[in-house]
Amino acid sequence: TQRTLVLLKPDAVRRGLVGEVIGRIERKADWKIAALELRQLDRATLEQHYAEHVGRPFYEPLVEFMLSGPVVVMVVDGERVIEGVRQLAGPTDPIAAAPGSIRGDFGTIVRENLIHASDSEESAIRELKIFFPGLS
Ligand code: GTP
Ligand code: MG
Repeated sequence: TQRTLVLLKPDAVRRGLVGEVIGRIERKADWKIAALELRQLDRATLEQHYAEHVGRPFYEPLVEFMLSGPVVVMVVDGERVIEGVRQLAGPTDPIAAAPGSIRGDFGTIVRENLIHASDSEESAIRELKIFFPGLS
C-alpha cells in the first residue's frame, strides 16, 4: 500500500474549500489520513519541495503564492493513493481539468490550483521527508 503527501494550497484554505477537498479524499474506500496540520510554510521548505522548478519563470511567483497564507499539509495512506489523489485533483491547468475533479470544479488559475499531490513513489518519499521528517 502507498503513502502520499497532499498540500491544500493557500487558495483552498482562503476560499473555505478545505472540508470539501478533504471530504473527497476521506470518502475514497480504505484511504486513511495519517497526518494533518494547518501550517504556515517557510521559504526553505518550499525551495526543497519545488527544487525541480528553480529557474522557471513561474517559480518565484509560485513560492510567493505558497507563502501567502497557511496550507493544510497531510499524509494519506491507501491503495494506489499516489495515482488516486492525482486523479481526484485533475491536470495542473484547472481549465483543462474535467468537471468532477478538484481543479476542474473549483480552479481557474494555473498557479492557484488548490492542491498538490506527490506524482510518483519517489516524489512521495522525497516530499514526505521534507514535510514530516519524524513520521515513520
Ligand atoms: P503540484 O501537484 O502542485 O506539484 O502540481 P503539478 O504536479 O500538477 O504541477 P508541477 O509540479 O508541474 O508544478 C507545480 C506547481 O507550479 C503547479 O501546481 C502550479 O501551481 C505551478 N505551475 C506549474 N506550471 C505552471 C505554469 O506554467 N504557469 C504557472 N503560473 N504556474 C505553474
Ligand atoms: Mg508537481
